[in-house]
Amino acid sequence: MAEPTKTATLTIDDQSYELPIYSPTAGPDVIDIRKLYGQAGVFTYDPGFTSTAACDSTITYIDGFKGELLHRGYPIDQLAGKSHYLEVCYLLLYGNLPSASELEEFETTITHHTMIHEQMHNFFRGFRRDAHPMATMVGVVGAMSAFYHDSTDINNPREREIASHRLIAKMPTIAAMAYKYSIGQPFVYPRNDLDYAANFLHMCFAVPAEEYVVDPILARAMDRIFTLHADHEQNASTSTVRLASSSGANPFACIAAGIACLWGPAHGGANQACLEMLKEIGRPENIPEYIARAKDKNDSFRLMGFGHRVYKNFDPRATVMKQSADEVLDLMGVENNPILATAKALEEAALADPYFAEKKLFPNVDFYSGIILEAMGFPTSMFTPIFALSRTVGWISQWKEQLADPHMKIGRPRQLYQGNTARDYTDIENR
Ligand code: SDX
Repeated sequence: MAEPTKTATLTIDDQSYELPIYSPTAGPDVIDIRKLYGQAGVFTYDPGFTSTAACDSTITYIDGFKGELLHRGYPIDQLAGKSHYLEVCYLLLYGNLPSASELEEFETTITHHTMIHEQMHNFFRGFRRDAHPMATMVGVVGAMSAFYHDSTDINNPREREIASHRLIAKMPTIAAMAYKYSIGQPFVYPRNDLDYAANFLHMCFAVPAEEYVVDPILARAMDRIFTLHADHEQNASTSTVRLASSSGANPFACIAAGIACLWGPAHGGANQACLEMLKEIGRPENIPEYIARAKDKNDSFRLMGFGHRVYKNFDPRATVMKQSADEVLDLMGVENNPILATAKALEEAALADPYFAEKKLFPNVDFYSGIILEAMGFPTSMFTPIFALSRTVGWISQWKEQLADPHMKIGRPRQLYQGNTARDYTDIENR
């Protein structure tokens, strides 16, 4: 970690405390409060961590005001336009874009880890057919700890790398199996002659009764969705993975924890919630009623797919996603899709409304991703599993980075206690 660049002075009851300030390569300075409790006997208070840097990282940087997202310094729009998901995985994991031979070796490795242990198929059969695929994914990924004992030692760099490759490689297989199980169709095995995105589409939509040829436009759009969701600084699910990892938990358990957190509608579950909201709105004429509800403090309704903790400008991923939506809908002959018409009318109405402008509520990555996935033929229940599949490389890269940090300690936040002070037990006959 670099040396402090400045000092902050905190004065409490005419006692002053000097706190070092560190300057990043991009973004706000940070005040180091690690010794504050020891020196001043006080905690800082920041529920939701709106002003707290929980770690130092070199992986992803977001400028919420500019609407900028960089992975190892490369802008997301360039990566989405010029790269592909497995190359972005290499970049996130190892820090730089691969040479041609490095990329070929990495892709070959991932391709040859895509099958899961045959006995794991039994885990799917323990679920009801109508289980949400996210419930299945949390369960099956957690169960990987019981099958891949040779890649659970977090202190062994080689085992950490094998676990990373296994998780990136097997997540599409597990997600596709969760989907097939939910619709009562047989599992489709991965194929080594297909690239990562095409393989996922094939495992989801192929049936034994006939050949399924993956449309390259859909495969490209799928790959782009994976890339746009790959990593995003210290979001809720990534912070969950880091906190789980800080206790020394094995990588599969940590990723299962990340999947569980991502499931929430305020986070990765928003793409499913957004599409269900658009279907509920039904058609553009109903939009004013829903805009009014979103602005009503007494109504818990929020516009799913709008707003973001960090972006106070357009989410750059939504901009790229919107371009993909048009391509996929044209291909699927659904350019007149009533849901897309409602989505576009909602976006225009919200962006023209002072409430959303004042609160800087813009469409986020989830706003258009659901429309593309629905046009591809996925049910809404598969939207968040696809987000989880995509984000696995981000979770793993952040997990790897934290394990390599010599200063890493178990995460243990404190609290502002507002409960009862000590009091004696009262026997029940005296209550
Ligand atoms: C993701 O962190 C990440 O990086 C996440 C993510 C990633 O890649 O990992 O980007 C993925 O989770 C994207 C966000 C997906 N969630 C949604 O689309 C759900 C709808 N959005 C909201 O729930 C909300 O915007 C959050 C949760 C995303 C952000 O919440 P914040 O930053 O805590 O904002 P807030 O709840 O404090 O809201 C600020 C104000 C509030 O009004 P006031 O109390 O100030 O009067 O804006 C209002 C909110 O009521 N507001 C909304 C709104 N989002 C916030 N009003 C209507 N509709 C919305 N969507």
